[in-house]
Amino acid sequence: MKKYLSNNFDFGELANVFDELPIWSAPFGLKLLDYIDYKPNISAIDIGFGTGFPLIELAMRLGDSSTVYGIDPWKEAIVRTQKKIDYYGITNIKIIEGAAESIPLDKDTIDLIVSNNGINNVSDIDKVLSECSRIIKTGGQFVQTMNLDKTMFEFYGQLESILSEMQMNKEIDLMHQHIYRKRRPLDEVISMIQKHGFIIKDLEQDQFNYKFTNGTAMLNHYFIRLAFMDSWIKILPKNKLEQIFDTIEMRLNDQAKMLGGIKLSIPFVLINAIKK
Ligand SMILES: C[S@@+](CC[C@H](N)C(=O)[O-])C[C@H]1O[C@@H](n2cnc3c(N)ncnc32)[C@H](O)[C@@H]1O
Repeated sequence: MKKYLSNNFDFGELANVFDELPIWSAPFGLKLLDYIDYKPNISAIDIGFGTGFPLIELAMRLGDSSTVYGIDPWKEAIVRTQKKIDYYGITNIKIIEGAAESIPLDKDTIDLIVSNNGINNVSDIDKVLSECSRIIKTGGQFVQTMNLDKTMFEFYGQLESILSEMQMNKEIDLMHQHIYRKRRPLDEVISMIQKHGFIIKDLEQDQFNYKFTNGTAMLNHYFIRLAFMDSWIKILPKNKLEQIFDTIEMRLNDQAKMLGGIKLSIPFVLINAIKK
């Protein structure tokens, strides 16, 4: 009998695997899923799939005639992804534990490369793009999303004015370097992709807002602490850290009273490219 005619979901076990992607990844991810050309009998790869997105969704949407590789160095996330794959009984995924700077696949073998906020998080973007160019076939599709350099400009603006009032010019430079390292200007990303033999077919920019009651709620949010706080701490001297963050928190809280909450803008882009 066909698998879909005999569902036997174990609802106890479902709680361990249920969720396709983190809320942060969702706005990027929904756009990415929309741009993929779904075809039978293809080989695809997801770069930086984290806890399984879009790897697992893509494998199910493409169907069993296609194979989807996923590459990520994060061991614990691979264990969780594998749990989801096993639970849903998916058989067309091949996981590679490793860094996309060196992809263990042959030249001209891949039809589709996807990456949802993955490639902008690798150590060497240029090397990863050169690997993408090597493994993809002519005419192959390369769809990726990433947030842009004006991400959270509301927060960085506050930080910069406080640093400027404290005459901490070195730290202002460090802040700009940190933004550049994490979020390259779009023009630069486009040039890099083109340099590696891709034609940009679609470029769609969008934005979502990360809203909070005030600065205190924002700074305590787990994702701010997990994904941003450490790099902010690194650019500031230890002996001024508390003073600077007390001031930011206070100013954001004052602003929240005036504006009815605070908003962090997250501008992002989807790039859909085709290999020449
Ligand atoms: C922001 S997460 C995105 C995860 C997932 N794609 C999503 O949409 O939720 C970035 C992912 O890139 C992975 N990553 C970091 N460096 C990498 C590299 N050199 N090669 C492949 N993946 C990498 C991280 O381990 C992490 O899982």
